[in-house]
Amino acid sequence: MPFDRQALDDLRSQADIARVISNYVTLRKRGASYIACCPFHNEKTPSFNVHPGKQVFKCFGCGVGGDVFTFVMRMEGVAFAEAARMVAEVCGLPLPETRVVAPEAGREADERERLLRLHELAARFFQEQLARPEGYAAREYLASRDVGEATLAALRLGYAPDRWEALTKFLRDHGATETELERSGLVSVTDGGSRYDRFRGRLMFPIADSQGRIIAFGGRTLGDGEPKYLNSPETPLYVKGRHLYGLHLTKEAARRAGFVILVEGYMDFLRLYQGGARNVAATLGTALTEAQARQLRRYLETPKVVINFDSDHAGQAATRRSFELFLEQGFRVNVLRLPEGKDPDDFVRARGMGEYRERLKQSQPLVEYLADMARLEHDVSRPAGRAQAVNAVLPYIVKIGDAIERDLAAERLADRLQLDANAIRGELRRAARERRAELAAETVEAATKLTLAERNVLQAVLAHPPLCAVAFAELDDELIDLLPGRVFFRAARDVYAGGGTFEYDSLARAVARWQRAETRTDARGQLDFFSDSDAAASPLDLEMENYVAELLLRAEPPKNEEQADRLRAILEDGLLALQQWRIERRSAALHHLVRAAAESNDEALALHHANERLRLKRARLAALHNRQKRS
Ligand code: GTP
Ligand code: MN
Repeated sequence: MPFDRQALDDLRSQADIARVISNYVTLRKRGASYIACCPFHNEKTPSFNVHPGKQVFKCFGCGVGGDVFTFVMRMEGVAFAEAARMVAEVCGLPLPETRVVAPEAGREADERERLLRLHELAARFFQEQLARPEGYAAREYLASRDVGEATLAALRLGYAPDRWEALTKFLRDHGATETELERSGLVSVTDGGSRYDRFRGRLMFPIADSQGRIIAFGGRTLGDGEPKYLNSPETPLYVKGRHLYGLHLTKEAARRAGFVILVEGYMDFLRLYQGGARNVAATLGTALTEAQARQLRRYLETPKVVINFDSDHAGQAATRRSFELFLEQGFRVNVLRLPEGKDPDDFVRARGMGEYRERLKQSQPLVEYLADMARLEHDVSRPAGRAQAVNAVLPYIVKIGDAIERDLAAERLADRLQLDANAIRGELRRAARERRAELAAETVEAATKLTLAERNVLQAVLAHPPLCAVAFAELDDELIDLLPGRVFFRAARDVYAGGGTFEYDSLARAVARWQRAETRTDARGQLDFFSDSDAAASPLDLEMENYVAELLLRAEPPKNEEQADRLRAILEDGLLALQQWRIERRSAALHHLVRAAAESNDEALALHHANERLRLKRARLAALHNRQKRS
């Protein structure tokens, strides 16, 4: 029964090949056709052409070409009939009524059809078993996990009886051949060659393709049996990593919401679905694949995903790989972490859907999340540690394709890690722009050192403590917070305010307190350090010791008026440089605001920020001018 040729031709001509292909690769218009980098081979310069007028594609690099069906077959690894169906779905066109049987694809398509029928039969069988007396324990289990009737029906949950041949017999009675039984993955074979049910005594979750046709099953034990979940093996219908659980039920809601919440487990999916969060899909605990990311992208206008895996999996390689994949595929990625390592199911059951939605709103942009992770791994109280933290996150940032997004991510990272040194901020942005996964070593080296201005200011006050009054009148908390050497400035201020003299011991202790405060909390200066009785017991590490010693060594008290004046001049130059630097930082921030406002077409706001920036620039020049007049 061949597919109606006419219907097929209609579909081919109505399906917009460019639109279908653009779900997989980014097309750029060039004359009457579109070009892109070929998805079938690796290339840097685009040689992949799509011609909407002729309804064909062709790669002049690797030679692949064909029509819209060929493309989908290759891309999705599906047979012709399947490809035709997918094309129809994506384009919102009616399906050709009769079955497609292209001669070479005929047998394959036939087998798939028969296996699909078997799976549909099996799903109905499991559903019926759940309703029967034998399904009592499963119903109890569902009730204990708070699964409602409507959810159960929507997800088509079922029960595989705890017998050896329940399904096998049922399928045979419905005309399944022995080969089909085996190929379906629903039946196992003993060494002796007899066949028995793969799933026994399990709660059954049907796994469907994006059109809702059942292609596999997952079965959960009702108790603590092993394995907890048993899935179908790979079959002609089911290739692991090609599908996302539940997406057939949620793709419309995902389109409307503009993003998908990605969870790990069947029960996580179920809980959110039941709670009314209908833009959700589950990976089923395996590492995300490119095919899955692409599938999601197809349903989203601007691809966005909120990853809500178990918090205890957050650091795992698989999760990290999925971050990379999503970024490579042009997704915006947010991460939702639930407290106490709870999975979404646990959390919603404990705290309710309202609280879940609150948390969802506060999900973190990926870069911030990664920065927080990096903060835990590296000692970010020191510039060197901050640079290491940057290097831990950069490899993700460079995966972002869009240059503006990438730039924004670099800014976010800098803010999150409180990267203040101009040198390192600049280098981070350069690295992001050039898509380098590491900061240049020299810059990192330079950033671990105090700037010359900081050094000069510190040395002047240490050499001549009366200058502290001038220095700390000008160095407010906001400015100190921006400085790589902030720990030393705060320490010096404490010693001075406490009436102490600058000696190794007093200074080192104050530095140690501030350094510990930095690692302990973000709310700098909010701690009550002076009640910290173990201050003396935790000496400085070597690096900081060297710093303190060096600063003190270089601080030579003035021997006469002339030398005192020189120190004062050094101090004033240093303070001016720091103030100028603060203005530059603000000005750079304003530059971003201007650009953002312009992008969202808010001209009034853009103008406001631009004026503010101009004012800063004038203030900066005026300060410089004054200083020149004085000297
Ligand atoms: P519940 O205990 O029912 O809440 O399951 P869960 O989803 O919380 O389980 P878990 O976080 O341990 O695993 C997440 C997902 O990984 C599950 O939903 C399954 O898809 C998969 N998974 C878990 N355990 C197994 C297993 O033993 N075998 C297989 N194949 N998959 C598993
Ligand atoms: Mn769970």
